[in-house]
Amino acid sequence: MAGTVESLWKEFKYSGVKSINDITADKLMFCMKCHAPQVQYLEPSGAKELAELLIKARNGDEEAWKKVEQVNINCLICHQEKAIVHKWLDGDIDRNAIYGKKEGAHFDAKYKVLKKSPVIGSAVFCGQCHGTGPNFEFPEPSQCATAYGSYLHAYIPSGGTKVCQDCHMREDNLGHKIPAYRDERMVKKALDYSVEAMGYYYLHKPGDLRPTVRVVVKMKNKAGHRIPDG
Ligand code: HEC
Ligand code: HEC
Ligand code: HEC
Ligand code: HEC
Repeated sequence: MAGTVESLWKEFKYSGVKSINDITADKLMFCMKCHAPQVQYLEPSGAKELAELLIKARNGDEEAWKKVEQVNINCLICHQEKAIVHKWLDGDIDRNAIYGKKEGAHFDAKYKVLKKSPVIGSAVFCGQCHGTGPNFEFPEPSQCATAYGSYLHAYIPSGGTKVCQDCHMREDNLGHKIPAYRDERMVKKALDYSVEAMGYYYLHKPGDLRPTVRVVVKMKNKAGHRIPDG
């Protein structure tokens, strides 16, 4: 991220950023759209401070790293900011509410209402950040994770029925760890494979007996998208 921030003035000569002083939130969104959507609301001074912290953190400053880590995908990002996808149909986000799977009261002193998110149990919810392809809406389009594209175009058309939340949260009570290959249980669900091998000698010409092996590997991707991807 620090490298990308520096690219704004080192490489992207039409970005309008000549030095770190010109950094504003909109210049960071081609990455932060998914990595830290809250950045869009930063005042110019906040955006500049974040850029400085990212560079310091990259250069080994632990204090800066601790502050940068706080700008993450926290509860509010999923349970409010990203809880409504179709805003013409379902309306704007209520900033005083927490969104979950049902309506009701919420115990928190600040967010007292629980509203139902129409999407939180569906793949499109995760698709907001796990990408379909290039993000053409930015003046400098970026492309990073594209798992949702693969889910829509490969997994579903070949008969897949599960949503991201099934494999990454609901099964095995994985819950909010939302793990990928770092978790042994996910690695086991990823592939079916079999290997058959037969060794034999092949007489190439008289006196020239060559050891040969025939190996048949069958591999089936059982994940809901291509792997590796994101
Ligand atoms: C990456 C997105 C994401 C983040 C971050 C996240 N959640 Fe969730 N949360 C979900 C999803 C998705 C579900 C629904 C899972 C399902 O459908 O099985 C959920 C469900 C829940 C539920 C059950 C909701 C209900 O109405 O039944 C609670 C409670 C909850 N989350 C609390 C939290 C808290 C507290 C945090 C922060 C510590 C948090 N979540 C962070 C995505 C997230
Ligand atoms: C606000 C954007 C956002 C949303 C919404 C979101 N993710 Fe992510 N997710 C990310 C980012 C960014 C990362 C990479 C974090 C990093 O490594 O810095 C990530 C990482 C992951 C990983 C990899 C974890 C690992 O161990 O490497 C998985 C799996 C994942 N997300 C699944 C999901 C699922 C399933 C949902 C929906 C329930 C979801 N995400 C919703 C942005 C999001
Ligand atoms: C049918 C089950 C299944 C579904 C559905 C599914 N995944 Fe996965 N996903 C997996 C498995 C298994 C892995 C671990 C792959 C491995 O070990 O390399 C994985 C890996 C991942 C990773 C890490 C991949 C990498 O290479 O870094 C991300 C991110 C992810 N999934 C996100 C999602 C999102 C977002 C969705 C919904 C659009 C989704 N997954 C739907 C099973 C699923
Ligand atoms: C469409 C949303 C989206 C955008 C835009 C985006 N990313 Fe990502 N990025 C993700 C997700 C989701 C993951 C996690 C995928 C996984 O774990 O497999 C990720 C993973 C990464 C990783 C690997 C992190 C790790 O812990 O392994 C890096 C580095 C990264 N992104 C940098 C960037 C940079 C730099 C930009 C801007 C040029 C950018 N991303 C733009 C969604 C996005």
